Amino acid sequence: MKIAWRVDPPRPIRYTRSGKHSSTHNVRLHKTERRWYGRMKARYLSLAPFIRWRTTERPVPWTDVFGRDAPLEVEIGFGNGEFLIRHAQEHPERDFVGIDLEWASVQRGLRRIAQMEATNIRVLQADAQVAFERVFAPQTLHRVYSLFPCPWPKERHTKYRLFSRTFLRLINSRLIETGEAQIVTDSAPYAQWVETQVPGTGFTLGSEPTLLRFRTKYERKWRAQGQESFYNLHLTKHQHLPTPLREDVPVQTHRIDHFDPEHFCPDNVRGAITVEFKDFLYDPKKQRGMVWVFTVEAGLTQDFWIQIIRKRDCWHIRPAPGCAVVPTVSVQHALDLVRDVALEHTENSFGNS
Ligand SMILES: C[S@@+](CC[C@H](N)C(=O)[O-])C[C@H]1O[C@@H](n2cnc3c(N)ncnc32)[C@H](O)[C@@H]1O
Repeated sequence: MKIAWRVDPPRPIRYTRSGKHSSTHNVRLHKTERRWYGRMKARYLSLAPFIRWRTTERPVPWTDVFGRDAPLEVEIGFGNGEFLIRHAQEHPERDFVGIDLEWASVQRGLRRIAQMEATNIRVLQADAQVAFERVFAPQTLHRVYSLFPCPWPKERHTKYRLFSRTFLRLINSRLIETGEAQIVTDSAPYAQWVETQVPGTGFTLGSEPTLLRFRTKYERKWRAQGQESFYNLHLTKHQHLPTPLREDVPVQTHRIDHFDPEHFCPDNVRGAITVEFKDFLYDPKKQRGMVWVFTVEAGLTQDFWIQIIRKRDCWHIRPAPGCAVVPTVSVQHALDLVRDVALEHTENSFGNS
């Protein structure tokens, strides 16, 4: 079976508005990549504000990224980026990081940032919890805010609500001593629920109805339905509660002396760590197998390829080069499972590398 190579996600290439690109590396693009980046350029104008947090240094050195040491604010769930960009333009003396889970939001945000030529904004596509655990160093943020976060109104969906006690403690740990957080919501039950989460998080809560206008898509949506006043939860840090950074795990690759692709059939594992095997491709000419894996652990979902490749007299099992993998226990687990299944049909192994 021939290997079907995936088109890799963006490389660190910067597009200027004149359409020329410059790069931190001298990269020669393949014609497929040139087409791909051509489309990117047309749609997003510039990828420069997009931080590929999975493959860059973590925690991200924001002063290097912005090229200055300015107060740093984070907007969680920036949606189409309207408020983020307006707010950043009103405060050129501060730097801003927008986080959103959805690639569609990131696209819209990047387009607006380029159109407004804002230089003090960067965006991350990430789950906010994961970003706060890994991307922001303790006691570095001045302000964190979120406008109209998903309220998950159904009782059985409470577990998906973002501003839980655990997450508020995490935010606390990333804020400077005088830092503050703000959550604005249209939903009374959600506001009440957040209030119950605040005790024990090192924040003092101020809560009042607000007539303030943020002019975001969701604010317009609720106003169009007749809601004039929203719930403004203002959290002031009064005590520092440390939550350490979640560190990368050194991932151990494997070597085995035999590999039989005909009998390679790993089983999925589900639990606190989930590993799902989605596909297996094998190229007999190049003696290279590719296993497509999904892993899930503590809010972090990853999807990547594991390569089983023959080099000299043994087979190497490792994440395929070019995959943006955050080295974690679930990645190690996936590598171990691949090795164990491969070994089921062999006798001798060289052990770990
Ligand atoms: C209801 S929309 C509000 C968007 C915008 N703030 C507004 O007022 O129009 C919620 C946004 O939060 C994002 N979001 C939801 N859960 C998230 C999470 N765990 N981490 C980061 N963003 C999240 C969604 O993708 C969506 O863009």
